Amino acid sequence: MNDEATRGAGAPDPLLTVMRYHQETKHHFSRYARSLGYMDWANQPNPFRRYQGSPLIALPLLKPDEAPRSPLYDDLYLDDAIVSAPVTVRSISRFLEYSLAISAWKQAGETRWALRTNPSSGNLHPTEGYLLIDGVAGLSPSPGLHHYAVNEHALELRAELPRDSFDLLMQEFPPDAFLVGFTSVNWRETWKYGERAFRYCQHDVGHAIGSARIAARTLGWRMVLLDGVADDSIAALLGLDRLEDFETAEREHPDCLAVVCPTDPTRGLAAGQTMFVPLYIAAEALRGLTRHRWHGKANRLSRGDPVSWEVIDQVERASWKSSTEPRVFESSPGRSSAESRINHDPRATSIHSDPPTAGQVIRQRRSALAFDGKTSLSVGRFFRMLARVMPHAERELCNRPTPWDVLPWAPSIHLVLFIHRVDGLVPGLYMLVRDPIKVQSLTQSIRPQFVWASPPGCPVDLPLFLLQEGDARQLAAEVSCHQDIAGDSAFSLGMIAEFESSLRRYGPWFYRRLFWETGLIGQVLYLEAEAAGVRATGIGCFFDDPVHQLMGFSKMSFQSLYHFTIGGHVEDPRLTTLPPYGLDH
Ligand SMILES: Cc1cc2nc3c(=O)[nH]c(=O)nc-3n(C[C@H](O)[C@H](O)[C@H](O)COP(=O)(O)O)c2cc1C
Repeated sequence: MNDEATRGAGAPDPLLTVMRYHQETKHHFSRYARSLGYMDWANQPNPFRRYQGSPLIALPLLKPDEAPRSPLYDDLYLDDAIVSAPVTVRSISRFLEYSLAISAWKQAGETRWALRTNPSSGNLHPTEGYLLIDGVAGLSPSPGLHHYAVNEHALELRAELPRDSFDLLMQEFPPDAFLVGFTSVNWRETWKYGERAFRYCQHDVGHAIGSARIAARTLGWRMVLLDGVADDSIAALLGLDRLEDFETAEREHPDCLAVVCPTDPTRGLAAGQTMFVPLYIAAEALRGLTRHRWHGKANRLSRGDPVSWEVIDQVERASWKSSTEPRVFESSPGRSSAESRINHDPRATSIHSDPPTAGQVIRQRRSALAFDGKTSLSVGRFFRMLARVMPHAERELCNRPTPWDVLPWAPSIHLVLFIHRVDGLVPGLYMLVRDPIKVQSLTQSIRPQFVWASPPGCPVDLPLFLLQEGDARQLAAEVSCHQDIAGDSAFSLGMIAEFESSLRRYGPWFYRRLFWETGLIGQVLYLEAEAAGVRATGIGCFFDDPVHQLMGFSKMSFQSLYHFTIGGHVEDPRLTTLPPYGLDH
């Protein structure tokens, strides 16, 4: 049967719907994507979801130097540097702290708001987190589905899973493995941003995937997205399809499931042997779900009803993943080093006198509100930052460096960089091709007059190219919705997706994954900036087509999906910072 026959004749083509959504939610110099145009404060959604009536299990609030202790930040990127922690209530607490927890409260006058370890467009935090995990002492005596209650740093028991259902669900995964699920309350973003908000929710999912992958790495755990799972299955597993529990509450959209493997799946295998981890959930395992005992009803987040945007309803439907692909992830012993000589370049040393721990960097991550227009980065540090967003696509998935081993697809995002202040590099427009085999197709797709020169001292395995020399500060700010943070930084960038070819190759559901990949790049860069003693900010507000025209991209072949900026930040003296959960770090 062809696609139209399965959809029903006359039904809109999901691929075209997704492309139309993308086109219609572009910001232009002359007009912004549609939104309410004012802030409906009376209807502001609560950033904290709770399942009222479900048992709440407080997680221990751990001091930074308490076990499980954080490795050094740079060790996240070195092989075998981190010994795997056992799954206990403390390690789960750390995992969630580093992934999704409140990292600080900010206060200005009478107003207080929470910041989290994961960033979010407008600080609206649409992403919700779930764990499907076996019984853990201090958490729950038997397997369960838990929702992470961020404000309390606690787990809400959403469902008790019969032992045989859980065992069936997890039988193909390594011992101790558990599942992490992410969902989005899209309304939290549409409340402020209207039609463009669906994009922002996807960026935020990407950031959450990144923060969770890195959190897992601090504990020596592996993590990979179960990307073969259909969205209906995620909704069923996480209880999002239980209409009776969302009667008066805003719905959550299923995003993704990932398996976290505390025990290295290749442990005990001899060289050359391979272990297979499924990237999907078998149908018979899902059937066991009907026997769960469910708890709690979702809280209502806004006083009034959500404002509905037709194009968002359409893109939600069109990018829904209804297929299940029985894909597996092959894992064999012997990870190759994540870092090449870039890591040992003396110019890349940290400006911190003591190298920071991963925990320090994760907890202190913040978005810069303004940059000083002065601070420059050393070229060695800059090269290392870029090296850390290289997924090494040529390696098998299990041998890709952290955190790129979490995304089981060929990298589809490249960076166009506006370099303003990197010592040793001429200012101008540059390109980082994250998958070197794409250099040729990119050279053929952009302005022929670009020079494609390798910058002096650039490591041989870093596909960074100077395209055009020049002062790009004003241009960078202009295309980023006139935000000074893009021009006053050391550098800013646009994340360029192989857009139409990816959607045609995988299907319209891949639209969301393109944004997830950009969010993951953003998460790595946020932490890299902190480790370098500077600061970053994600930029969701940019003028789409002016960026494409600048590059010479035609039609929808390549699209810029997310901007980003890094530099020396300026603190706002009117803001005070308070510790999270009453802890005094
Ligand atoms: C997807 C995304 C888009 C963002 N877009 C902008 C932007 O256009 N301008 C800006 O100043 N900050 C932007 N931010 C930064 C957020 O405002 C910031 O993450 C949020 O206020 C939470 O603060 P924190 O990052 O310090 O935790 C963006 C962040 C994300 C994750």
